Amino acid sequence: MTAKVIDGRKIAKNLRSNISDEVKELVSKYKIVPNIVTIIIGDDPSSKLYLRLRDKACEEVGIKSSHAKFPADVSEEEVLQTINNLNDDNSVHGILIQFPISKHISQDKLINSLNPEKDVEGFNPVNMGKTLIGDEYIIPCTPLAVLTILEHENIDLKGLDVTIVNHSNVVGKPLTSLFLNRNATVSICHVFTKNMKKYTSTADILITAAGVAKLIKEEHVKKDAFVIDVGIIKTEDGICGDVDFDSVKNIAGKITPVPGGVGPVTVACSLTNMVKTYKNCVE
Ligand SMILES: NC(=O)c1ccc[n+]([C@@H]2O[C@H](COP(=O)([O-])OP(=O)(O)OC[C@H]3O[C@@H](n4cnc5c(N)ncnc54)[C@H](OP(=O)(O)O)[C@@H]3O)[C@@H](O)[C@H]2O)c1
Repeated sequence: MTAKVIDGRKIAKNLRSNISDEVKELVSKYKIVPNIVTIIIGDDPSSKLYLRLRDKACEEVGIKSSHAKFPADVSEEEVLQTINNLNDDNSVHGILIQFPISKHISQDKLINSLNPEKDVEGFNPVNMGKTLIGDEYIIPCTPLAVLTILEHENIDLKGLDVTIVNHSNVVGKPLTSLFLNRNATVSICHVFTKNMKKYTSTADILITAAGVAKLIKEEHVKKDAFVIDVGIIKTEDGICGDVDFDSVKNIAGKITPVPGGVGPVTVACSLTNMVKTYKNCVE
């Protein structure tokens, strides 16, 4: 038996439809259209597709999305000043910072300067801390997408063994908190993990976000495990994930493809967060 392949595009479409209904209701109640601003520094080609997809998704659900664009050599002070202005601007209901940014600008300083109530991506330490202590509200979009996929498949996480290959602030750390908050038992792997297979091959749920093509093979996966591939790697043959899909689908119970898995759900989850920051501002 081969694994059930999860259709992330379908999950995302349903999410967008629900969000669109909610936005209509909120706009008719408050008479204010949600207005979200993305800060873009430089001209990173990998950001362009993501920005285009997110803007299209915003348009579909009735959220206004605009960009505050800066050249790559903009000063840190100028960007911080813009963030302060957006924080204070009552007509702006959410702020995103498109990464990567220029090396001379501190990513942490920008994230720390965001008003936590307008922090669409949930990276501000206040929102990260809330996720850590189980007071979840604005959850980073990719971890939220992973959770959404598991919820869609009616997975009860209590007591399950979960392994995450990634310990970044964007994916692995918030995901760890989300799983612990739901009483799963969590292992986290990274480049210094001595024997990754020891952790991956016993996991009921395996999440991988290393950005290394075909890192996860059949031998790394427990029979009937749920494998969620967050990795996005550009190769000569197109986009792929961390998972050697063709071999792993023979042992996994459920698997997300790349493309068409976590990616579209992440974009939809950023809309979910935009509605939350909008509510923070107008309610
Ligand atoms: N689908 C989506 O919506 C989405 C969203 C965000 C990111 N992504 C993708 O997810 C991947 C990771 O993104 P990120 O921003 O979290 O990147 P990152 O900060 O570079 O994190 C990569 C993580 O994987 C670990 N790692 C790398 N190579 C490994 C190996 N050979 N064995 C074990 N662990 C390894 C790294 O460990 P060390 O820290 O010790 O080096 C790190 O914890 C990328 O492919 C990115 O494009 C997808």
